[in-house]
Amino acid sequence: MIDIRYPIAGLIVAASLWILYDRRNQVVESSPAPVQPPIAASEADSPVIAAGTAPAIDLAPLRPSALPPMLHPDDNPATPEKIALGKQLFVDPRLSGSGTMACQGCHYRHLGWTDGRTLSPKDNGELNTRHTPSLYNTGYQTAWYWDGRATSLEGQVLAAWKAQINADPEQVAPLIQAVPGYAVQFETVFGGPATSETIVKALAAYLRTKNSDDSPWDRYEMGQAGAVTPEVIAGQALFVGKAGCVACHSPPHYGNSTFYNIGLEYGKETPDPGRFNVTKNEADRGAFKTPSLRSVALSAPYFHDGSAPTLELAIRYMASGGNPDPNKSDLLVDRDLTDAEISQLGAFLRALTSRETWDMPEIP
Ligand code: HEC
Ligand code: HEC
Repeated sequence: MIDIRYPIAGLIVAASLWILYDRRNQVVESSPAPVQPPIAASEADSPVIAAGTAPAIDLAPLRPSALPPMLHPDDNPATPEKIALGKQLFVDPRLSGSGTMACQGCHYRHLGWTDGRTLSPKDNGELNTRHTPSLYNTGYQTAWYWDGRATSLEGQVLAAWKAQINADPEQVAPLIQAVPGYAVQFETVFGGPATSETIVKALAAYLRTKNSDDSPWDRYEMGQAGAVTPEVIAGQALFVGKAGCVACHSPPHYGNSTFYNIGLEYGKETPDPGRFNVTKNEADRGAFKTPSLRSVALSAPYFHDGSAPTLELAIRYMASGGNPDPNKSDLLVDRDLTDAEISQLGAFLRALTSRETWDMPEIP
C-alpha cells in the first residue's frame, strides 16, 4: 500500500505557509506576484538563511554595529514616527497611478528587497530595462540607480514614485491626506499635511533604516569564533586574496557607489551605456554601480540585467574575468578558481546575510 501521510503533511505545511504569506501581503494582492514562489513569511526562517553556514547563535543585536552610523540629511532628520509612516507608505498601493502597485511590488523583504524577476513590469505595464536592485543599505550609497544618476535618496524616491508606480505626486498627495489615519500622522511628524515633499521624506527616512548588518561574518570578526564554518573562513580569505573581489567590493558594505564595466553588455545588439549616460565619459561606457554584497544571497537573479540566475553563477562569472569587453575593468581577470573555491566564496557571501526581523505594517 502506498503511504500517503508525507504528501498530505507537505500539502498542509504548504497551504499554511501560503496563508501566512498571503495574509502578510494582502495590501499588494493585485500587484503582479513575484515569480519566485513565496519562500517564507518570516525572514527568520527563510530557507536561504536556514541553509546558510552559520550555526544557531545568540541573536541579541551585535554591538557595536559593523556599519558606521547612518547619516540623515539635515532637512530630513529621522524620528521613529516618521520611519513608521514611511514604512506604511512603502507598502501602500494607493501611492500608485493605478492604485494597485506599491513600492513593495518590486522590493520584497523576503527576496532581499527585490522581486525575484529578471526585469520587472512597471505600474503602467512597461518592462524595466534594468534589473530591480536590493534596497539593503541604500542609505549608505552616494549615488542611486545602477548608473548613479540620482544624487540624493529623496530625489531617487521621487523619481521611482513617478516612473515605477506611474503616479503624479501632486494628484496622489491629496488622496493620502484624505485618509484620516494618515493625516494625523503627517500632522504629528511634519506639522502639516501629506504633500509630495513630505511623502518623499517619510519614504526616504524609512529606506535609511533598511540595513543589513549583524551577519554571521560580522559576529565572527567581532570575536565569536563559532559564528561561521571553516568553509566561510576559507571563502573570505579568497575574497580578499586570490579571487581579488575586495578590490571593488570593500568592507564594511562589500560594494558601494563605485562604477565598473564588468563586460555584461559585450556583444549585445543595443548595449546599455550605463554610467556613460551620466558622465558622458567614454571610459564609463558599460560601467554600472558595484552593489553591496550584504544579504546578497537573498536577491537572485543578479547583475544590472538580471542575467545570472543564481549566486553561484554570478560568482563564477566574476571569478572567470567576465566577457572580453574592450572597456572592461583591469581589476577583473580570470582567477583560475576550482569548484571547491567557488563554493567557499558562496559560503562566505551567504555568511553576510543579516537576520533582522520585519513585519508587514498595518496601513490606515
Ligand atoms: C516596477 C518595479 C519597481 C517598483 C514598483 C519600485 N521600484 Fe525601486 N527600482 C526598480 C528598478 C528597476 C530600479 C533600478 C533602475 C535603474 O537603475 O535604472 C530601482 C531602484 C530603486 C532604488 C535605488 C537603489 C540603489 O541603491 O541604487 C531605490 C532607493 C528604490 N528603487 C526605491 C523605490 C521606492 C521608494 C519605490 C516606490 C515609490 C520603488 N522603488 C518602486 C524597480 C521598482
Ligand atoms: C572590477 C570591480 C569588481 C571586481 C574585481 C569584482 N566585482 Fe563583483 N561586481 C562589480 C560590479 C560593478 C557589479 C555590478 C555590475 C553590473 O551589474 O553590471 C558586480 C556584481 C557582483 C555580484 C552581483 C550582485 C547583485 O546584487 O547583482 C556578485 C555576487 C559579485 N559581484 C561578486 C563578486 C565576487 C565573488 C568577486 C570576486 C571573484 C567580484 N564580485 C569581483 C564589480 C566587481
